Amino acid sequence: MRDPFCYVDDSLHCEDVPLADIAARAGTPSYVYSSRAILETYRAYDEGLAGIPHRICYAVKANSNLAVLALLAKAGAGFDIVSGGELYRVLKAGGDASSVVFSGVGKTADEVEYALREGIHSFNCESEAELALIDALAARLRVKARASFRVNPDVSAETHPYISTGLREHKFGIDIGEAESLYKNGSALRNVEIEGVSCHIGSQLLDIEPILEAVDKMLELVDRLRAAGIPIRSLDLGGGLGIAYRPDEQAPEIREFTARLREKVAGRDLFLILEPGRSIVGGAGVLLTRVLYRKCRPTKEFVVVDAAMNDLIRPSLYQSHHEILPVRRQNRGEILADVVGPVCESGDFLARDRKLANVLPGDVLAVATTGAYGFVAASNYNSRVRPPEILVENGSWRIVRARETCDDLIRGETV
Ligand code: LLP
Repeated sequence: MRDPFCYVDDSLHCEDVPLADIAARAGTPSYVYSSRAILETYRAYDEGLAGIPHRICYAVKANSNLAVLALLAKAGAGFDIVSGGELYRVLKAGGDASSVVFSGVGKTADEVEYALREGIHSFNCESEAELALIDALAARLRVKARASFRVNPDVSAETHPYISTGLREHKFGIDIGEAESLYKNGSALRNVEIEGVSCHIGSQLLDIEPILEAVDKMLELVDRLRAAGIPIRSLDLGGGLGIAYRPDEQAPEIREFTARLREKVAGRDLFLILEPGRSIVGGAGVLLTRVLYRKCRPTKEFVVVDAAMNDLIRPSLYQSHHEILPVRRQNRGEILADVVGPVCESGDFLARDRKLANVLPGDVLAVATTGAYGFVAASNYNSRVRPPEILVENGSWRIVRARETCDDLIRGETV
């Protein structure tokens, strides 16, 4: 995959567009996404599975901007949602309800009803009680719901503890040992059609072996369920492929992953669903931020920038690493510093003890690989307006979500 962010004559570009131009006109902080990168990774999944019945259901939670969803909908993607709000976004972006799978451990009755009315493809159920609710609501609406259980294959995947999900002790899914009896009970429900099996073992996985191990366990389960007379049509493997956040990290090759999957599912008469999020949008985005001050404390140097933990929470929440690059490369040497934002918390940082370019106030920096779980997790903490989102497409750029204003901050409030 080509990196959409490259230097051309010491000026960092997104595709063919200088990021300095965007920062000058749209201001900072702002998120910038490359449509080319989003489509390239989506197509790597889709083309990698050509010949096998499949659908790539992009995980909306990673980046739910309408323009991003519209881009993927046009390319033929389906969607993996975890809330009624995400379904609303998908439909507003021109996505097709029949391409939507609904995941998540706590779907409310209102959300289930909304999804049934819109006719989504299927629910990934996380408990027997949830399936009973879906059955009851489908009866009331006189429709047939399609559902799979999210099964916990009990494989351990190395990642941050907050985003590892495939072990028994996690809140997600049903135990693989209990699956057969739950499926038997489920297939007796009058208003639910059993669709398939699903799993998702974790996120930011740099090694594909644990996912492939889960595939083997899921295929054994499919065989057992089919032998018990439960017709299983689809296998949904969730998302999880990681991206290289650090220069020394190696992301799994999507084509290698799809090739291994093909080998495993070929000839099994299964409709394969994948729910990638981060691997599609993560590397396609940067957060532009401007240096406000340099500040020297006796033991530390700080670069104070105009983006903060409310704009990008990943460093504070997961101690995650994001490369920080000057938008204009200059020969001023390097410094060792913490890059911090204006929020009143010691935990507000974008990088700690980081070697970076010797930047000066006014310089613009790009915080790399922030297209996934960046803007979507932004908040208004400290009454800071959320940044704009910008999409680069075919050599030009446009604002696809405006910078918030103070009126946005108080919308719905009364004295
Ligand atoms: N499917 C299910 C059921 C999921 O729970 C997730 C992510 C995905 C698909 C998409 O996974 P991906 O391909 O993006 O790894 N905020 C965290 C990540 C949370 C992931 C939650 N589930 C972060 O910033 O690293």
